[in-house]
Amino acid sequence: MRIAVIGTGYVGLVTGACFADHGHTVIGVDREREKIQRLNRGEVTIYEVGLPDLLARNLGRTLSFTTDTDEAVSASEIVFITVGTPQGEEGEADMSYVVEAASGIAAAINAYKIIVNKSTMPVGSTRLVDRVIREKAEGEEFDVISNPEFLREGTAVRDFMNPDRIVIGTGSQKAAGIMAELYRPLNAPLFITDPASAEMIKYASNAFLATKVSFINAIANICEATGADVKEVAMGMGYDHRIGFEFLRSGPGFGGSCFPKDCQALIEIARNSGYHFHLLEGVMQVNQEQIKLTAGKVERRLGGLEGRQVAAWGLAFKPNTDDVRDSPALEIISLLSAGGARVLAYDPQAMENARASLPGLECAGSALEAATGADILLILTDWDEFKMQDFRKVAEAMKGCDVLDARNCLDPLALRRLGFNYEGIGR
Ligand SMILES: NC(=O)c1ccc[n+]([C@@H]2O[C@H](COP(=O)([O-])OP(=O)(O)OC[C@H]3O[C@@H](n4cnc5c(N)ncnc54)[C@H](O)[C@@H]3O)[C@@H](O)[C@H]2O)c1
Repeated sequence: MRIAVIGTGYVGLVTGACFADHGHTVIGVDREREKIQRLNRGEVTIYEVGLPDLLARNLGRTLSFTTDTDEAVSASEIVFITVGTPQGEEGEADMSYVVEAASGIAAAINAYKIIVNKSTMPVGSTRLVDRVIREKAEGEEFDVISNPEFLREGTAVRDFMNPDRIVIGTGSQKAAGIMAELYRPLNAPLFITDPASAEMIKYASNAFLATKVSFINAIANICEATGADVKEVAMGMGYDHRIGFEFLRSGPGFGGSCFPKDCQALIEIARNSGYHFHLLEGVMQVNQEQIKLTAGKVERRLGGLEGRQVAAWGLAFKPNTDDVRDSPALEIISLLSAGGARVLAYDPQAMENARASLPGLECAGSALEAATGADILLILTDWDEFKMQDFRKVAEAMKGCDVLDARNCLDPLALRRLGFNYEGIGR
C-alpha cells in the first residue's frame, strides 16, 4: 500500500519505519525541515531501540521523507496523522497541529483516501478532521477513521510490531477492510468499533494505567509509615490475575509525553460533558505530591539542601528513551536546585534534551563522574547502566554515603553491605 505519515516524531517515525519494513511505500512528512534533512541522510532523530536498523534497511527503498504534505498525500491511499496533541492552556488537548495537518491533507486529496487519526485526540476528533477536510475538499471521496496508538517509548518498535490489540474506529466497511489488510501481518486482535469509542479507549487506557501508578505510590507511602515493603506488597497483589503485575512499581511519580497530558485532557473531556472526574483528579494530585515527596526525602536525608551536592542519575521519564517531556526527574532536580543544592546529573541518552528544557542543568560525562564529591546519590530513571555500576567505586568517589533509590531498582542489601545508607520508595 502507499502510505503517508504526517508528523515524524516518536509515533510517526516508528509507524512509518515499521510499515516500510512490511514492504509498503511510506512517505514521512514533517514541518521541521532540519528533521527531514537528517532523516533523509539516514540519521535517526530519536533514541529508540531497533529504529536505526529499520531506517538503514528501508530508507531510499520503501521509505522516504519530505516537508511537502501535498506530494506525500497525493501519492498515498492511507494518510496517518501523527502530529503532537500537547496540553492546551486549560488542560485540554491542543488540536491546532491536527487541524493544520488536516487542512494540508484536504488541499492534496485527488482520489479516495483513508485519513487515520493515530495521534491521541479527544472524543469527536474524527468528526472534526472530517469536517476540516470536507470544507476544503468538497466532492472528494475519503474516510476519516480513528486508530489510536499504544506503543511505549523505549520499546516502541517492538510494541508497534507486537501490539496487544489494534483499535479501529469507523463506520466505513471499506476503510475497516483496508485497515484490517494493512495490519494483518501483525497478527493481533483487531477491535473495530465506532470512532467515539475508539477515541475514548485511548484516554481511558492511559488514565487507568496512570491510576495504577498513583495507587501503588499511595500504598508505598502507607507502607513506609507502617513498616511494610511496597515491592513485596505489589508482588503479592500481582499474582491475582484480576490485578496483574504491570504498572505496580512505586517511584517518583509518572511522567512522559502522554500520561500527564492525557489524564488532564480526559478530565477536561469529562468536565465539558458535565461529569466531574474526581477520581482522575486524585490520581494527578497523588502524582504531584509524589514528585514533591521525593525531593523532600533528599532534603530530609541531607538535613537541608543549601550547599549540598546531589548526584542525579537519570533524566528521561523512563529508561531506553531520550524523551524528557514531563519527566519527574527534571521537576525534582528543579526543586532541589531551588532549595540551594548543586545537582550534577547524568543520563545515558537524555542529557541533550534535558539541557534544552532545563537551561543551566549541569551534566557529567558518566554516572561515576556525577557521583564524584556528592553528598547523596539519587536514582531517578532505572536505566540498566545504573544497576550495573561498580558501587565500590561509587562509594569511594562520593563524599557522603546516602542513596535515595526513587525507582527501587537497586539491591538494598548489597548497597548497605558497602556502607551506603540506602533508602527506596515505600520500603
Ligand atoms: N510518544 C508516545 O509514546 C506516544 C504513544 C502513543 C500515542 N502518542 C500520541 O501520538 C501523538 C504524537 O506523539 P509524539 O510523541 O510522536 O509527538 P512528537 O512531538 O514526537 O512528534 C510530532 C511531530 O509532528 C510534527 N508536526 C506537527 N505539526 C505538523 C504538521 N502540520 N505537518 C507535519 N508535521 C507536523 C512535529 O514537527 C513533530 O516532529 C500525540 O498525540 C501523542 O499523544 C504518543
